[in-house]
Amino acid sequence: MYIPEYVKLLSRYESRKLLHGLISPAFWNWLQFRAYRKRFPGSYVSGDSDVGSKAKIGTGCLVWQSYVGDLVELGNYSCVGVGSRLGGEKEVRIGRYCSIAPGCFIFSTHHDHRNRTTYSLRIMKEGRARMLPPDCYSIPISVGNDVWIGRDAKILAGAVIPDGCVVGAGAVVGKKQYEPYTILGGVPAKPIGQRFSDETISELLKLEWWNKEGEEIFSEEMVNFLLSKPE
Ligand SMILES: CC(C)(COP(=O)(O)OP(=O)(O)OC[C@H]1O[C@@H](n2cnc3c(N)ncnc32)[C@H](O)[C@@H]1OP(=O)(O)O)[C@@H](O)C(=O)NCCC(=O)NCCS
Repeated sequence: MYIPEYVKLLSRYESRKLLHGLISPAFWNWLQFRAYRKRFPGSYVSGDSDVGSKAKIGTGCLVWQSYVGDLVELGNYSCVGVGSRLGGEKEVRIGRYCSIAPGCFIFSTHHDHRNRTTYSLRIMKEGRARMLPPDCYSIPISVGNDVWIGRDAKILAGAVIPDGCVVGAGAVVGKKQYEPYTILGGVPAKPIGQRFSDETISELLKLEWWNKEGEEIFSEEMVNFLLSKPE
């Protein structure tokens, strides 16, 4: 019977989890929460999240019970809802003031469907912990500023989502090009609306309010301005 190295690797990981089993989950989460608080000062990352040791999380971010991989960069004040998974073997850059709803999947790696098989033969054979070529391929993902990604949306390798866009619940966003402040929806995601007139969009893009310091954005005047409707 041929037992792939990857099966052995996962079995070893499972045995290691026994150690965690000796500590109560609540205590473990508290320990993790403290470690995240030290690593990402000024942000809240729940202790039941799984954040890669090289991940970058800016100031004022919220991350609830989610996976954030090593190559993920989360801009200041962005929020990630429960049960989201952000990662892959190439960079996933999320801008500032983004709202990522629960259950989103933002992943920069694909199985390589250009090979004769999509099955991860090399990973299985060699027991690799990472999804590298030739089994898989990866393309960076870039999400602009002030982007709202609706519940259970999937953002695939190579996606570029410009500033101000809205991704509708359940949408699947691939490598297509989109304009800023577009509402995207469906599978595959297509523009289903434009948030504002061309004039207002240029004004907002020129303002680049997301690059101002937090104190200025959270001032009463700015909050009232940004939470008002332009037309
Ligand atoms: C995308 C969204 C913002 C659009 O809201 P809206 O502007 O009020 O849109 P409407 O309901 O008027 O729908 C406009 C059109 O888009 C379609 N549409 C709306 N949401 C869609 C979605 N998620 N996917 C695909 N199509 C969608 C509608 O069917 C409608 O099509 P029609 O013109 O052919 O009838 C909203 O539907 C959505 O998905 N919100 C995300 C909610 C969420 O995830 N909340 C989690 C809390 S953070």
